[in-house]
Amino acid sequence: MEIEELELTPLRQPSPEMKQSWVLKPTLSKKKKKLSVACMSSNIRLILWLGGVLAVSSIVVITLFKTLPHHQSIPPPQDNSTIALPMALKFFNAQISGKLPEGNNVSWRGNSCLKDGNFPGSLYPHLAGGYYDGGGSIKTSFTMSFSMTMLSWSVIEYGSKYEACGEMDHVKGLIKWGTDYFLRTFSSSSDTIYEMVYQIGMNQGSQVTSDLYCWMRPEDIDYHHRSVNLCYTDCPHLAAEMAASLASASIVFRDQVEYSATLVNSAKAVYLYAEAMSAKRKSADHWDDLIWGGAWLYYATGDNSYLAKVTSHDLANRAGAFSHGPRYGVFGWDNKLAGTQLLFTRLRLFLSPPFPYEEMLRVFHEQTSIVMCSYLPYYTKFNRTKGGLILLSEPEPLQYAANAAFLATLYSDYQGASDAPGWYCGPTFFKTEILRDFSTSQVDYILGKNPHNMSYVVGFGQKYPKHVHHRGASIPKNKKVTCEGGLKWKESTSENPNTIEGAMVAGPDKKDGFHDVRVNYNYTQATLVGNAGLVAALVASSRGGGGFDRNTIFSAINPLSFAPPPPVPET
Ligand SMILES: *[C@@H]1O[C@H](CO)[C@@H](O)[C@H](O)[C@H]1NC(C)=O
Ligand SMILES: *[C@@H]1O[C@H](CO)[C@@H](O)[C@H](O)[C@H]1NC(C)=O
Ligand SMILES: *[C@@H]1O[C@H](CO)[C@@H](O)[C@H](O)[C@H]1NC(C)=O
Ligand SMILES: *[C@@H]1O[C@H](CO)[C@@H](O)[C@H](O)[C@H]1NC(C)=O
Ligand SMILES: *[C@@H]1O[C@H](CO)[C@@H](O)[C@H](O)[C@H]1NC(C)=O
Repeated sequence: MEIEELELTPLRQPSPEMKQSWVLKPTLSKKKKKLSVACMSSNIRLILWLGGVLAVSSIVVITLFKTLPHHQSIPPPQDNSTIALPMALKFFNAQISGKLPEGNNVSWRGNSCLKDGNFPGSLYPHLAGGYYDGGGSIKTSFTMSFSMTMLSWSVIEYGSKYEACGEMDHVKGLIKWGTDYFLRTFSSSSDTIYEMVYQIGMNQGSQVTSDLYCWMRPEDIDYHHRSVNLCYTDCPHLAAEMAASLASASIVFRDQVEYSATLVNSAKAVYLYAEAMSAKRKSADHWDDLIWGGAWLYYATGDNSYLAKVTSHDLANRAGAFSHGPRYGVFGWDNKLAGTQLLFTRLRLFLSPPFPYEEMLRVFHEQTSIVMCSYLPYYTKFNRTKGGLILLSEPEPLQYAANAAFLATLYSDYQGASDAPGWYCGPTFFKTEILRDFSTSQVDYILGKNPHNMSYVVGFGQKYPKHVHHRGASIPKNKKVTCEGGLKWKESTSENPNTIEGAMVAGPDKKDGFHDVRVNYNYTQATLVGNAGLVAALVASSRGGGGFDRNTIFSAINPLSFAPPPPVPET
């Protein structure tokens, strides 16, 4: 069946008053209410009964309220997503570079690479910090910033779920660890930016001191200064993703007014830099980043000039929105189109900005519907393993499956909140629940419902990878090794001496096969981007803590700004 031809569910237009109330409603008190209901959902009868008592006698009620905390029943058993979420976040603690923050809680980690950027003549002397990208000690801004954007997006949508399971401070601390570092990787106090740090630790030339060649814990790196790579005119993709990352974080930290403003201002400057580079560039693999970064800047600022830019047909076309190629709908660090389309779909469903934006937003909504259809097992756009894992990429299928699960759950939540019971794929109508089934199937696969009965998240379940391709996890804590001396730990077939809790490995092959072998990184490597998608998918699918948050992402937007210009007075 051709899923490219499809009709959209007719959109029921909310009234302007309704739209305004969604945005202007104070979110704080509403959230609190949601939370307490979630916490006591098992006690609904008790609450009802309490209500009755309230009407009868206020004295009795006061006594009851005083004793209530002691009478709360045991909470229902947690679902797997809720259990795995704190673990998946903890992977980021294991990847921290620089001086460890207090309470980092990863026993085998210590301070590392404290002198990054700190050498004679360095323009960026304060580059300690940030996160290691994967199993080594390289820090890559592009993947790190996408990872932070994903964490921020998940907090913006599912804040009450993070609150309910007590992980809000944890995830915000992780995001800030990233954004604090980003602000030191370019001239973040100026309005015009000409260069950015894009990578640290990828020493070129002399083979023996390259992280690619050495196998040592980051704590033990003692070779000469780690190289700092800057980009000047050819990193529009990085600058645009950086803008996305800072802009989305500014929404997460909107209560910290000053910090949030710093993030927004830097995001704007970095986006200008991205646009300037883009204008001079011939090759075209950065348009998806540009539209994604612009979309986040619109949400962070409410400035219609960004909305005008990112709803340009030309930009969408360059970003591949009309291509429908084999990787159409595959969302990840290397292509952000599907996530952007969903962000626009959100805007249309809940605020439906009128002309001149409405037409492109309708198109994006239609494209999101097509992407969601393509995830369903009824279509053959993507292959699946026999065990049911969607193969959006080979190798390393898990990070893309997790990202898709996040998008699908979000879209199903958007549909639910806009009273749409489902959507059309060609002539076939599908109920929203089918998207949840898809997401659940992928998350379950990752957590152990697969032919090996193996969880691909370290520390979760009975059986999980023990040979993660990771320098720090594979070398005993107190064994200082040299660059080459560490290679025996890489090649050893023994289990890792340190458990890298929460790490999601790259995953199985297309036949559900998995080799828990350290040197085979196509199976056993863990990455920031992979875990960022996992965290997002887990929080989206975790139960309890209420649904998604319709309003927070719109906090900077004034819906009246969409009002058509006043009629020209008659003369
Ligand atoms: C570290 O562990 C302590 C005690 O279990 C806990 O209170 C704290 O929140 C943890 N910190 C992080 C960052 O997970
Ligand atoms: C699906 O698998 C078949 C058989 O292995 C292969 O020929 C085809 O190219 C795959 N399709 C995609 C979209 O990867
Ligand atoms: C939760 O995960 C465990 C470990 O993989 C698995 O045995 C169990 O069946 C899962 N529970 C559900 C409800 O999927
Ligand atoms: C996985 O678990 C199922 C059900 O418990 C069992 O039938 C199957 O043999 C197990 N497979 C492996 C490879 O352990
Ligand atoms: C991992 O996968 C890539 C891409 O398919 C391949 O080029 C590489 O040889 C694989 N590496 C190993 C160790 O199997």
